[in-house]
Amino acid sequence: MRHFLKIEDFSFIELEKLVNIANEFKKVRFSDTLKNKTLITMFFNPSTRTKISFDLAVTELGGHCVTIEPGKSSWGIEIEENTIMNGDAEEHLKDAIKVISRYADFVGIRCFPKFQNWEEERKDLILKNLAKWSEIPIVNMETISHPSQALAMMQTIKNHFDTYKKKKFVMSWAYHPKGLNTAVANSASVIASIFGMDVTIANPPDYDLDPYYINLVKENCLKNGADFKMTNNMEEAYEGADFIYIKSWGSLKQIGNFQPEIQNQYKNWKVDSELMKKTNNAFISHCLPLRRNMLVTDEVLDSSNSLIYEEAENRLHIQKAILCELNDEWYGGK
Ligand code: CP
Repeated sequence: MRHFLKIEDFSFIELEKLVNIANEFKKVRFSDTLKNKTLITMFFNPSTRTKISFDLAVTELGGHCVTIEPGKSSWGIEIEENTIMNGDAEEHLKDAIKVISRYADFVGIRCFPKFQNWEEERKDLILKNLAKWSEIPIVNMETISHPSQALAMMQTIKNHFDTYKKKKFVMSWAYHPKGLNTAVANSASVIASIFGMDVTIANPPDYDLDPYYINLVKENCLKNGADFKMTNNMEEAYEGADFIYIKSWGSLKQIGNFQPEIQNQYKNWKVDSELMKKTNNAFISHCLPLRRNMLVTDEVLDSSNSLIYEEAENRLHIQKAILCELNDEWYGGK
């Protein structure tokens, strides 16, 4: 049994295969490939695209999805191990996953870090514990990384470029009033580096991603003979870029102590048409949801270079590829 926990658990060949399978599902949308299979999705945080695309992915392949939102329409779930459950949660994740394993074939989980204690949160213990307790494959629907999003981004890139090699991928921070999860930026940077792209990560000072991800991206680029750069200069980053991936994330220096007055200094980290002129007529995308005219102007988002809706659509095809690859009885992609 294999889980889908993070991008770096998979080789380039395995990831490219998932992208290729997703492109097949893009051509033929409905089948019985997952007939009688059930996916349970557990959302500890809100979602629109991930929730809909996983549900439709299994449904369109003949299966079924049940979604629970712990603490809302279903019992609150405690995720800490070895704790006295004297809070609001009525059941423990260990018990919930053992029960779900008897009902379903796959379980997806979304549980963002609270950004209170990064030294603990960066261990992604919820996924590690689930993998320990679950008797069915687990799908990470966003914890400290967002691997299904990264694959949808890569599918989008693949469908617009003949080759990834030496294409300049820019992971670009942009201003948002909150300190958001670093998950999308982590996984997107890692997958671009595995696919051999030149990777530049641009963010304000003190907004660097966790060293684990930076080092992973750097090592992959080195292995692939690709360039790796980090910069605090947005204009320099956009120079000659082929693909701009926009995202805001919170500073790891402000964990447990978000400081809006610091973040507000970077309101000028906004993507507009002037900035885009520095690029090599780059395509641009974002995982969505996105605050228009905060991070990116309408003009850029509504331009023909914007791939935001194509990437969102690809979530559906990629989720199908992931579930099929985790399904023991699936031989279609082999
Ligand atoms: N990109 C993404 O994961 O969207 P949702 O938060 O709406 O699921």
